[in-house]
Amino acid sequence: MSDIILEAVDLHKRFTRGGGLFAKATTIHAVNGVSLQVRRGETFAIVGESGCGKSTLARLLLRLIDPTEGSVIHEGQDLTMLGAGAMRALRSELQFIFQDPFSALNPRMSVETIIAEPLRLHTSLNAAERREKVAELMARVGLRPEMADRFPHEFSGGQRQRICIARALASGPKLVIGDEPVSALDVSVQAQIVNLLEDLKQEFGLTLVIIAHDLAVIRHMSDRIAVMYLGEVVELARTEDLFTAPRHPYTQALLAAIPVPVPGSAAGRKVLGGDIPSPANPPSGCKFHTRCPHATALCRTTRPVLDGKDHQVACHHHQTLPAPDLPLARASRRSPAAEARFALYRAASRDAELQIDTTHPNNPTNSKETTQ
Ligand SMILES: Nc1ncnc2c1ncn2[C@@H]1O[C@H](COP(=O)(O)OP(=O)(O)OP(=O)(O)O)[C@@H](O)[C@H]1O
Ligand code: SF4
Ligand SMILES: [Mg+2]
Repeated sequence: MSDIILEAVDLHKRFTRGGGLFAKATTIHAVNGVSLQVRRGETFAIVGESGCGKSTLARLLLRLIDPTEGSVIHEGQDLTMLGAGAMRALRSELQFIFQDPFSALNPRMSVETIIAEPLRLHTSLNAAERREKVAELMARVGLRPEMADRFPHEFSGGQRQRICIARALASGPKLVIGDEPVSALDVSVQAQIVNLLEDLKQEFGLTLVIIAHDLAVIRHMSDRIAVMYLGEVVELARTEDLFTAPRHPYTQALLAAIPVPVPGSAAGRKVLGGDIPSPANPPSGCKFHTRCPHATALCRTTRPVLDGKDHQVACHHHQTLPAPDLPLARASRRSPAAEARFALYRAASRDAELQIDTTHPNNPTNSKETTQ
């Protein structure tokens, strides 16, 4: 069995907007020639500023949208060549968790119906067996099975994301992609979900692809990281290598901007000047040259390719650039702040996390209820 579970080969996605009698159509190259490999059993993270193409790439990887060019290879099979029926059958193995658990669940369906849907589509279980499996999955993600007949509005954000996770797990997937699965949640709930995903990954032998804004979460969870800028992967490396010795000036700027509680450090410096250019009119050559302090004439005309084996970088000058002074590199694997945060998360009482959100305006129960 190959070590590679999913591979993107020169993926492109262009969106065209507008166009008509008086307006010119604009084309956005949201994903521009991305090639990467996801290894079986790893947690692979994708990071980058808003609009750089993370969600588009994630959707392409599971063929929720079709690429303009390129292919996605899953277990030796090109997903872009599969017909609708074959792709539907594969959905049981490839699951997606969306950022917003509030809109990801059908408000008219009970939790039982929501979680049982993949079981109905992808397994031969009868109704009683499905009910049993739903109860099992609910218990596994930390929800009381008795809540199965309730509707999504009766749950808090963290609980809804647990429902989404149970639904994703129902069909026994091998690979799960989470597009910012915790960013819509309160900080205290975020870590409970992060911890749950980590536990489930071990238990079910999953491969995880995670998109997250919070670099502390990424460092905590991931084995390897791809950094994207304007539709391109500019650096791809093992997590520790990326955090302690980033080679691309954009990655260096992202990491230098993280607040780090190291005495004497200029923590949280904002070193990245300028706004991210419009993807409808990206800079020539290296797309980062308009913000890069090391840009040369070559950078303005020639696009650098992603180069290297285990630590890949797309920069003409990465071998000669001075090493960045990153307080983060001197901090422990998890900074004291992140360490404290995750300890707090771990310690968060199970009862507290499973409480129904009685403050939620839509909660009809309006009673303090726990899942003892
Ligand atoms: N369906 C679409 N039609 C037109 N443009 C789109 C579409 N989806 C995404 N885009 C554009 O493609 C670019 C990449 O969007 P994408 O959602 O992938 O970014 P992202 O990195 O996930 O951002 P965020 O961190 O804000 O979620 C953006 O400029 C976005 O406006
Ligand atoms: S190629 Fe040039 S502009 Fe691009 S990141 Fe490297 S030094 Fe900066
Ligand atoms: Mg996104």
